[in-house]
Amino acid sequence: MKILAIETSCDETAISILECKGDEQNTSFKILGNVLLSQIDIHREFGGVFPAVAKREHAKNLVPVLAASLEEAELLHEDRQLLPDAIRTEIGTLLTREPELAEALFAFLDESETPAIDAIAVTHGPGLEPALWVGVNLARALAMVWEKPLIGVNHMEGHLLSALTKPNEDGTFEIKDVSLPVLGLLISGGHTELVSMDQWLSYRLIGQTKDDAVGEAFDKAARMLGLPYPGGPEISKLATAAIARGNTIKPSLPRPMMRDDTCDFSFSGLKTAVLYMVKDRTLTETEKEEISHAFEDATSEVLFAKSSKALYTTGAKTLVLGGGVSADTHIRKFFTEHISNEHPEVALRIPTPRFTTDNAIMIGIAGYYRALKKEFTEPDQMRANGNLSLT
Ligand code: KG4
Ligand code: ZN
Repeated sequence: MKILAIETSCDETAISILECKGDEQNTSFKILGNVLLSQIDIHREFGGVFPAVAKREHAKNLVPVLAASLEEAELLHEDRQLLPDAIRTEIGTLLTREPELAEALFAFLDESETPAIDAIAVTHGPGLEPALWVGVNLARALAMVWEKPLIGVNHMEGHLLSALTKPNEDGTFEIKDVSLPVLGLLISGGHTELVSMDQWLSYRLIGQTKDDAVGEAFDKAARMLGLPYPGGPEISKLATAAIARGNTIKPSLPRPMMRDDTCDFSFSGLKTAVLYMVKDRTLTETEKEEISHAFEDATSEVLFAKSSKALYTTGAKTLVLGGGVSADTHIRKFFTEHISNEHPEVALRIPTPRFTTDNAIMIGIAGYYRALKKEFTEPDQMRANGNLSLT
């Protein structure tokens, strides 16, 4: 089955085309086309992502990204048959709030034939609602014109399932031999949660943040240190430099809620502690590196302590890390070492770096499993939901 997948939940405009085979027990994926346009350089000027700006950029870039992805997959063929008037009117109405996207889409559709794909998957939440809507509306329009089934994908399910993949030598990748229950630690800019997948694709919330998401804490702490957006990779870089010169952690940062009885998290206290550390001071590069190191150390320890607790309470056989923050080298190393020492019976799966931050491949993967269950949505029923929950 060939799936075209669209992701616009935050600041990446991404469209992938995957060839998917197999069933839930043994699935393989081949990337036919994969184009991702990051808006990071634009948002960096504002020090964070502005939803209206993200929406505008998605609307501008989606059709070129679509064409490039189809081209890469060798599925783009010329056909100068104009769209029938009735469908043109219908799509014009659907895209009333995205006139620029409508215009580009009409030009594209007037020149190209229906591609040989089997379904369209799109992130319909969670995320920034204005940004989500652009992708959702494009997906609805394409499903109508091309007469393909439409699948709404939960972005967090995409992070979780893509983290279960194992790469093959020929460039394909597969998901198989996954022992249930799976505990997912989902750590991104908007989320910090522990979910248990007891049955395939059925989730239970085990714990979540009471305030900031861990990625948000990384981004805010980075800002206090005068580092650009997004802060996660910047803090990671400075911490790596500190470790490389043998830094032992000097500034001590708190580990909020680490020892309580729940599997919940809190990161706002950590952020405040950094604020007090940097207030009214000009930091040297060395101090910034030391604080970054301490920050990574505190987050790694808290994330692991809660995951460990959740492993005991759920009896999970697999632990999977997903979301942008799972790109962090220190966190990856911490989990690898501590799981093998403290939970040697648990299989740890950490995504390859290309799957950690937002992408459309993960949406195609989750979309395929939903397609296997025939969970399709009629285009006129599909909605974006910024608060969509996995559980
Ligand atoms: O999953 P993601 O790309 O987008 C959301 O769904 O939110 O996650 C973005 C978050 C940002 O907060 C970013 O700072 C963080 O992931 N991040 C990192 C690293 N790369 C991205 N945090 C720590 N270390 C990294 N290397
Ligand atoms: Zn994400």
